[in-house]
Amino acid sequence: DHVRKAVIAGNWKMHMTCAEARAFAASFRPLIADLPDDREVVLAPPFTAIPTLCRHLAGAGVAIAGQNVHWEESGAYTGMISAPMLLEHGVTHAIVGHSEPRKYFSETDEQINLRARTAQKSGLIPILCVGESDDQREARETERVIHRQVEQGLEGIDPLRLIVAYEPIWAIGTGKTCAAEEANRICGLIRGWVGHPEVVVQYGGSVNPATIDMLMAQSDIDGVLVGGASLDPVSFARIANYQ
Ligand code: G3P
Repeated sequence: DHVRKAVIAGNWKMHMTCAEARAFAASFRPLIADLPDDREVVLAPPFTAIPTLCRHLAGAGVAIAGQNVHWEESGAYTGMISAPMLLEHGVTHAIVGHSEPRKYFSETDEQINLRARTAQKSGLIPILCVGESDDQREARETERVIHRQVEQGLEGIDPLRLIVAYEPIWAIGTGKTCAAEEANRICGLIRGWVGHPEVVVQYGGSVNPATIDMLMAQSDIDGVLVGGASLDPVSFARIANYQ
């Protein structure tokens, strides 16, 4: 039973042209027409597909997220997208601190914190991703790593307009979902570290239609951040319609 509203989010990563996003929206819309009102659906397409997806999912009750957001509102930052640019299209959320930009673009907790702050100040809800690598898990550093990411990532952040996503890196795109009880335990720790019972904490990492019900039955998992399975409208709709 969730006191907090559940948030089911899809992260498309670097997938989907505008034409593909349009086709997705057409199939997806009828499949989520009767969602219970205890949950919200969010989709994070690539920046280029945002206007198309907003237009084709208008009125369907789906919130749109940026996959990242810069920490300045404008300036000499080639290749970057700012919060006002996202807001102009009706975007309401922004993922920050995903393990992929942490790894491929060496994003630091400090930069991620700046992104989260700017997002929140501008009126976007940051979805802060945290999670340990395989090596860190083997070395039993999971809790220490995540505690640091939460503490540094959330400095100066209002916990009420925030989502934290626990994404163990070894579970991302590998088909290895973290055991529901273990994911629940870590999500509970995160809630404690944030220090506010109402913060929404999601689990992410190989979530699929076969694992969603078990995950959502956990007391401290308030939602999921879905990669691969969010690219298929039938799979993602099944996830959104979890029991
Ligand atoms: O942000 C979601 C993601 O990293 C999980 O990806 O493909 O394992 O569901 P996937």
